[in-house]
Amino acid sequence: MIPITKPFMPPIEEYQKFLEGIWEREYLTNNGPLVQELEVRLKEYLGVNNLLYVSNGTIALQIAIKALGLKGEIITTPFSYVATTSSIVWEGCEPVFVDIDPDTLNIDPELIETAITERTTGILATHVFGNPCDIDAIKKIANKHGLKVIYDASHCFGTTYKDRSVFSYGDISTTSFHATKLFHTIEGGAVFTDDDELNYRMRRMRNFGHAGFEQFDGVGINGKNSEFHAAMGIVNLNYIDSIFEKRKQQSLFYEKHLHRPEFQMITIQPNCDFNYAYFPVIFESEQVMLKVNRSLVNKGIVPRRYFYPSLGTLDYVINGNNPLADDISSRILCLPLYYELSEAEQELICQIILSEKKE
Ligand SMILES: Cc1ncc(COP(=O)(O)O)c(C=O)c1O
Repeated sequence: MIPITKPFMPPIEEYQKFLEGIWEREYLTNNGPLVQELEVRLKEYLGVNNLLYVSNGTIALQIAIKALGLKGEIITTPFSYVATTSSIVWEGCEPVFVDIDPDTLNIDPELIETAITERTTGILATHVFGNPCDIDAIKKIANKHGLKVIYDASHCFGTTYKDRSVFSYGDISTTSFHATKLFHTIEGGAVFTDDDELNYRMRRMRNFGHAGFEQFDGVGINGKNSEFHAAMGIVNLNYIDSIFEKRKQQSLFYEKHLHRPEFQMITIQPNCDFNYAYFPVIFESEQVMLKVNRSLVNKGIVPRRYFYPSLGTLDYVINGNNPLADDISSRILCLPLYYELSEAEQELICQIILSEKKE
């Protein structure tokens, strides 16, 4: 079978060395030495001022919303993974959807302003598939209306925007280090901010609000991660350059072989160094996409409908008018992309897609 993705698995001996250290120290979680080492190494690698390693990308979003004290309405995108919307609702806020740019698939900044009301407190935008939003336009609108900006940068490990890590933009950026992501720690995530005071608050929040053994400073949750997860991150970080290179070559292969007007590919932000995290293809219609999907599945190849359904259709939100997101999410398919995917396998995938098109 060729799945949509496979987690990167480093040599087992390298992970085992870290296990021996964990057994010696008998220190499994609660901001242990490996968590601290991972944070230092990631900060250096990404060139960011603050980074807090948390248990997953969903808790990262929830901590970000809580730390900024967002209430009322949060303007967001209907084209993202469900966690972007569900975190808003989980934190007691209302998602207000704004349609997307059909080329980048990111939230359309021109539509944000029309959706602002006196109840709007923030914007939660996703850099979809690792492709940065129009960060400058969003910042301008947020400043004008006194809104906070959170970026869901779950797909963005390694992406830079104007020569800086994309994680360094917005009041807070969040990411996911889930096993399906290009850089992973099995489960995991992080929050990023340049505001030291906000970082302090989120550090407390991640650990139940503890400010000492018997002291608390504000409400908190269990957002910590373990030494086992951090160890996987430290080992995987040693392989990150070859992971990026593989992804890039595989994406260029798909691009070259599927270069046809009937297959739309996303337009990458001009000011960014892209990480090739996903390879989405937008087909002419849902019917064509379903036909291609069926043929691939029949041959043991499993692409995924990222992102489907459009989030405005969830049963716990008020649906806005998002014709572009609804349309694109009905006919998009992400093709398999992972470290071990071979050129022969990619060739087979392209052949099946192209032969479906001929019929
Ligand atoms: C855009 C987006 N936001 C949030 C998440 C949630 O991350 P996690 O699975 O680490 O909780 C994901 C990942 O699956 C994602 O793709």
